[in-house]
Amino acid sequence: MKNIQISPSILSADFSQLGAEIQRLEEGGADMIHVDVMDGHFVPNLTIGPPVIKALRKHCSLKFDVHLMISPVQKYIEDYANAGADIITIHPEATNNLSESIKTIKDLKKKVGISLNPESKIELLTEFLDQIDLVLIMSVNPGFGGQKFIPGVIDKIKKLRKIEQDRSLNFDIEIDGGINFENCKIAINAGANILVSGTTVFKSNGGDIKKNINLLKLK
Ligand code: DX5
Ligand code: ZN
Repeated sequence: MKNIQISPSILSADFSQLGAEIQRLEEGGADMIHVDVMDGHFVPNLTIGPPVIKALRKHCSLKFDVHLMISPVQKYIEDYANAGADIITIHPEATNNLSESIKTIKDLKKKVGISLNPESKIELLTEFLDQIDLVLIMSVNPGFGGQKFIPGVIDKIKKLRKIEQDRSLNFDIEIDGGINFENCKIAINAGANILVSGTTVFKSNGGDIKKNINLLKLK
């Protein structure tokens, strides 16, 4: 059983204090920082890009788990790698050559993730599972924090862990969207080992980040 890691999403942070906010996450015991990049085209929201990630890099020693909700994604991958991303996760729908995009990320010596939207089938990525480090299962439709968890995605986690076992593969499964103190148990029991959370980490228990991270880890 892999260790459970928490990757808080800065989408729910105070954007006027992002440097201080990621330091609070590090002090609060976060395992990595989930950076939601949105372009207002692939998703109906616009957040941050490489210059902000570059500016944040020196404020935190944790890995930057960068979720690229941008399309087309291929021509921008190197910019995010150079800005300080450690994990680069892309959506298959955002590239017309997933193999090439995976190779680009790996050639840049970064960990590569593929993200599945709630209605996307795992067959979109099963042929690539031996080439990637992480599968990001969206439990909300991408674009905004604070949405309601979609329980139907849990089955994908179970299926992916079965494939991992059958093919003797090894990859992380990260779940992203609407994670709270109740459904985190369901996600972990299904086989997710990295939980993304914005609202629950930043807003629950009066914003006690350390307490919220430990509760999500079932501690
Ligand atoms: C949504 C983002 C998620 C979101 C999670 O498109 O990918 O990472 O910020 O936020 P909560 O935990 O508030 O659902
Ligand atoms: Zn995300």
